[in-house]
Amino acid sequence: MDLDAVRALLTTDGATLLAEATRRYGVEDEFALGTRLRRDHPPELVAAALTQARLRARAADKFDAGDAARMLFTVDGYEQATRAAVAGHRAARMAATLGAGAAVADLCCGIGGDLIATARAGLDVTGVDDDPVTAAVAGANVAALGLERTARVVEADVTTVDRSPFAAVLCDPSRRGGRGRTFDPDAYTPPWAFVRTLLSGTACVKVAPGIPHERVPAAVEAEWVSDRGELKEAALWAGDLSGSGVTRRATLLPGGDTLTDADDPGPAEPRPPGRYLYEPDPSVIRAGLVTAVAGLVDGWQLDRTIAYVSADRPAPTPFARGYEITDTLPYDVKVLRRYVREHGIGVVTVKKRGVDVVPEKLRAAVRPRGDGVVTFVVTRVAGRAGVLVARPVTPAG
Ligand SMILES: C[S@@+](CC[C@H](N)C(=O)[O-])C[C@H]1O[C@@H](n2cnc3c(N)ncnc32)[C@H](O)[C@@H]1O
Repeated sequence: MDLDAVRALLTTDGATLLAEATRRYGVEDEFALGTRLRRDHPPELVAAALTQARLRARAADKFDAGDAARMLFTVDGYEQATRAAVAGHRAARMAATLGAGAAVADLCCGIGGDLIATARAGLDVTGVDDDPVTAAVAGANVAALGLERTARVVEADVTTVDRSPFAAVLCDPSRRGGRGRTFDPDAYTPPWAFVRTLLSGTACVKVAPGIPHERVPAAVEAEWVSDRGELKEAALWAGDLSGSGVTRRATLLPGGDTLTDADDPGPAEPRPPGRYLYEPDPSVIRAGLVTAVAGLVDGWQLDRTIAYVSADRPAPTPFARGYEITDTLPYDVKVLRRYVREHGIGVVTVKKRGVDVVPEKLRAAVRPRGDGVVTFVVTRVAGRAGVLVARPVTPAG
């Protein structure tokens, strides 16, 4: 979408057309809808409205559906936007530390995912983006959601912005290299050197969850966030915004449970499996806090390098999925096939860590048939591949 298309969609005629396209998209056949709308509107405007209607429908997976139906998007802007749940968590954390009404600069605001959440958290936020179309879309989104009193957008290169009026900065650099999403901070735009200067002040910087731990500057807290069990992102918190003495944190949304290295008793001697098995949330694993989960459930790791924890007693925790181990078998397809046949198992879930197994191939090889359901956890037990037969335990234990 170009700037003229954004401007045209913001005129009275454009807004009426876009409202109609949004209402009818997915209800009416798209081709027929386009043909009908072109009877009363210029074809370029209809094309822009239909593109927006399509993006609005898609964006309902990241944003509240009611918000998405009022916002404008670019394809890149939608893909790079922080999902509302994660942006809301980050904004609430900033507001809790900075206090209501504090001035924040959202450097690299994109189409406004974080900007909107920051304004709604009660902060006064100035978004900055150097792409004219993206900045125009962000400005339109602020207006569409009625946030003009506490949010505004400036088109500028963030490296030239005077940061002195702001209590804190938020920065979400572009992380796309030539080959898809990049985990390498050296490929960020604006460059990592600029991001490092932000991290010497009071700042929150969003980074890809694959960021190597050694790239996190000293005295900066790294927080890995998952939403409904899926790892979404990491954020670096510096200055007043970092947790005191915390360097690594895992936070689980939507509940907001949080675990840090201050909760971590450190590694214990690995032992063979007890009666229960715990599979930590991916945010916990990326934050290097598997040993903290072991401490929480009074358990131990089966192997220092593998993210499974075992324990003798059930200890429900939001930070890991719990299983009861009902059998331990050797990793031998014939043995597993016999087990499946003898127990009448028709549904096999295969989980694996630390062993070279293709779950789909193993599932097919054991020939499930029957009404039973089982989880095979293939992992290293006492230095060799073994299979733990596991049954999920409910959160109540
Ligand atoms: C990952 S997106 C931001 C997404 C945003 N946080 C959201 O939730 O919608 C990064 C944005 O940074 C902008 N950008 C990259 N380098 C910039 C620079 N030097 N100055 C201003 N904006 C920049 C890009 O145009 C892009 O829109």
